[in-house]
Amino acid sequence: MIELTVDGTPLEAPAGQSLGAVLLQAGRTALRNSPSGTPRGLFCGIGVCQECRVIVDGVVARACVTPVSAGMQVSTGHT
Ligand code: FES
Repeated sequence: MIELTVDGTPLEAPAGQSLGAVLLQAGRTALRNSPSGTPRGLFCGIGVCQECRVIVDGVVARACVTPVSAGMQVSTGHT
């Protein structure tokens, strides 16, 4: 198990599991907002639609194809 931080809250997860799966398991279904403010989240799950964009260590990443790692800093709720 490793520990990452999501919006300032520590979260434990199995190393290497996809960030999208970890967030879903933690009940985080809304990962970003559309330009009109509509909550968006996992959709395709295979890295194509980009609906799961979050900020990981200061860089935009697709949660569904990003493996979690120790110390990862994740921020959600962006457009
Ligand atoms: S859910 Fe489609 S790119 Fe991540």
